[in-house]
Amino acid sequence: MAAYEYETHDYDVVVVGAGGAGLRATLGMAEQGLRTACVTKVFPTRSHTVAAQGGIAASLSNMGPDHWQWHMYDTVKGSDWLGDTDAMEYLAREAPKAVYELEHYGVPFSRTEEGKIYQRPFGGHTTEYGEGPPVQRTCAAADRTGHAILHTLYGQSLKNNAEFYIEYFAIDLMMSDDGVCTGVVCWKLDDGTIHVFNAKTVVLATGGYGRAYFSATSAHTCTGDGGGMVARAGLPLQDMEFVQFHPTGIYGSGCLITEGARGEGGYLTNSEGERFMERYAPQYKDLAPRDYVSRSMTMEIREGRGVGEGGDHIHLNLSHLPTEALQLRLPGISESARIFAGVDVTKEPIPVLPTVHYNMGGIPTNYWGEVLNPTKDDPTAVVPGLMAVGEAGCASVHGANRLGSNSLIDLVVFGRAAAIRAGKVVDRESAVPETNTAQVDKALERFDTLRHADGAVGTAELRLEMQRTMQADAAVFRTSRTLKEGVDKMDAIAAKIDDIKVTDRSLVWNSDLMETLELTNLMPNALATIAGAEARQESRGAHAHEDFPKRDDQTWRVHTIARIDGKDVDLSYRPIIEDPLTTEEQGGIALKKIAPKERTF
Ligand code: FUM
Repeated sequence: MAAYEYETHDYDVVVVGAGGAGLRATLGMAEQGLRTACVTKVFPTRSHTVAAQGGIAASLSNMGPDHWQWHMYDTVKGSDWLGDTDAMEYLAREAPKAVYELEHYGVPFSRTEEGKIYQRPFGGHTTEYGEGPPVQRTCAAADRTGHAILHTLYGQSLKNNAEFYIEYFAIDLMMSDDGVCTGVVCWKLDDGTIHVFNAKTVVLATGGYGRAYFSATSAHTCTGDGGGMVARAGLPLQDMEFVQFHPTGIYGSGCLITEGARGEGGYLTNSEGERFMERYAPQYKDLAPRDYVSRSMTMEIREGRGVGEGGDHIHLNLSHLPTEALQLRLPGISESARIFAGVDVTKEPIPVLPTVHYNMGGIPTNYWGEVLNPTKDDPTAVVPGLMAVGEAGCASVHGANRLGSNSLIDLVVFGRAAAIRAGKVVDRESAVPETNTAQVDKALERFDTLRHADGAVGTAELRLEMQRTMQADAAVFRTSRTLKEGVDKMDAIAAKIDDIKVTDRSLVWNSDLMETLELTNLMPNALATIAGAEARQESRGAHAHEDFPKRDDQTWRVHTIARIDGKDVDLSYRPIIEDPLTTEEQGGIALKKIAPKERTF
């Protein structure tokens, strides 16, 4: 191996990733005087949160009656009863506080006539515990909410003296022999130097792994880097089989058209011009949750009622909405439709198709963001020194299906929670762990092996093979046959990593090497996804298994725990957390309200 020199940096906390969760954690840590570094492979305001459009859920009641208990109920039902109830209560209770904090930090929310934060309806968000009409709970900054949040949090983090290491790629975690995380080894992309960050706590906020699929709304940077590092550290991933397809990706490009479009009155039609969601979800129609709408669209296409020459997509209609409303509330998607579909939304429908959008699964954590390494005796055992937040983590509030606008609130609530927790458990007076040289050597050996890889398969070629397989075999609808084929194909694809070819051997701006490192992160995420899906013999949320069309709470109301070693995936299961944080007497939700039942809309 080539000899690599490295520079060391000591911090109380190192956050990896600068999206909404990473920045909210960074800000919260820095505000409390913890010496905090945020290490990120892209410039903070280019993180994927910038693409979040429709809004952030919180029961502010600005547009009509709402309660955190209703939000919690919708989240439980949305998850198809697979979420952890304590985390779902924490999310719904803390959401209003977290949004008002954002407002005070300076997020430029859209406003009502009275000057309150504007809120719009989103799928699956209802009143009266799912009995009443849709609620306007999603707080919006036009259709650029993530953009507004990201810029504000970055500015506030700088103001609070958080230190940023921008365009640093995290190679691997440093774990002590007794399982404590003591830091992370990074490669600085613009000058090729290696940096070792020693820390009392590392927070993984690396986002999802949408790019394991061929067509995704996710940025090309969404490569599951945290999940990859965790898997290589011998730690598990959770509930990876639950992959969300957003109903309205633009046909062809996959670019997101916000659910806010349907929240503002848009609707879907098939080739007969029928508003078909009225048949599938008579109560909530186009505002049913995403898994429901994506399946309905797929069924329409399968039954020959798709639109377009190939009859392979659906129309989203906005042209009946007043032009001023489109300009005020949906300017971003009006522009995207023009650029990516050549459509003037005031005149024509947008061609759309369910597109991979979000990973419900991830690195298992409790609701403070502490990473779990479940054992039989202790299903909630914590990994000291390691946290995960945002889409990289799995708290688990989304269970088998996430509600739209519960992602931005997840980022902010759990980024904040991690900071609150770190403020309590990180000892400011203690010494920062010393550099674990054995772990640094191990990380650099892997790095060097990939840098000099001279096999027969190019990175882009292998990535495409993986993406096509995941797209075809772990799709909206799955069968035992497609899943088995998918597992076999992914097994063969993962084996080819040992035969990879990297053509650029340099260290400065070597995008070939960076994409190869990213592929080694995508791969364990993809393997866990397809293996978990094949094993789960039921249908729940986003996992629609045609050979097992019913939900089976008796056997499968459990979290999948996947440990990945090379191309091998070992699956086990842990119970979900059924108890909320507070009882009905303490002001919490009545247990009977959130007991599992048939999920209809
Ligand atoms: O449709 C959207 O605006 C996406 C929001 C989300 O995924 O939460």
